[in-house]
Amino acid sequence: MELCVALDLPSAQENLELAESLKSYNIWMKVGFRAYIRDGKPFIEALKEINPEFKIFLDLKLYDIPNTMADASEEIAKLGVDMFNIHASAGAVAMKTVMDRLSTYEKRPLVLAVTALTSFDEENFSAIYEKSINEKAEQFAMMSYENGLDGVVCSTFESRAIKNATSNSFLTLCPGIRPFGEDAGDQQRVATLELAKEEGVDFPVIGRPIYKDINPLEKVKKIVDII
Ligand code: C5P
Repeated sequence: MELCVALDLPSAQENLELAESLKSYNIWMKVGFRAYIRDGKPFIEALKEINPEFKIFLDLKLYDIPNTMADASEEIAKLGVDMFNIHASAGAVAMKTVMDRLSTYEKRPLVLAVTALTSFDEENFSAIYEKSINEKAEQFAMMSYENGLDGVVCSTFESRAIKNATSNSFLTLCPGIRPFGEDAGDQQRVATLELAKEEGVDFPVIGRPIYKDINPLEKVKKIVDII
């Protein structure tokens, strides 16, 4: 299991200060919409300058027509990030087109597909997908696996079933982790770190429980100890 910290603070400076305070750990840093739209490529470079061993997960959840997604994936590969994601609901053709395009890269980033956002509850999820979260997440995971992706974004509660249906080495990245039972915020399906470990989660993604803590470094230390 490898920790991934969500850099969701309101300014580049605050995110970089957080990264600076955690630089003794070679952990994953998740750069999402807010940070990337505002701070772009120079932000990714600044993170690498703080600690060249930080791994970068660009969480932009691509969803478009296949060719546009493949074009964007190629630009992401050129940024030198280590992992990014697309929406599984973009479909099998989009997945295959993205993976085919990236196959020309010697060192391509890992590609994950988002199954069900962890902020969904069953009612709101089935209003869109007309299936239960479990069922649909597993179906999306199979599709991702069959089309050559490296793993999926899912909740801790689907991690084990997805690995059983695909492969143990098919990666699961799970947001909605509240390591020690902290406030759930807008997340619906939250799990503790212990449960994430039991369910075979490869990457627990943790945002607010770290950056809202009075001492983020101490919190990361406690998390890494459990991992
Ligand atoms: O603060 P918190 O720990 O809830 O942060 C979770 C992070 O994971 C946020 O950056 C959110 O955008 C992201 N995320 C998520 N659910 C997904 C995919 C990403 O919460 N399915």
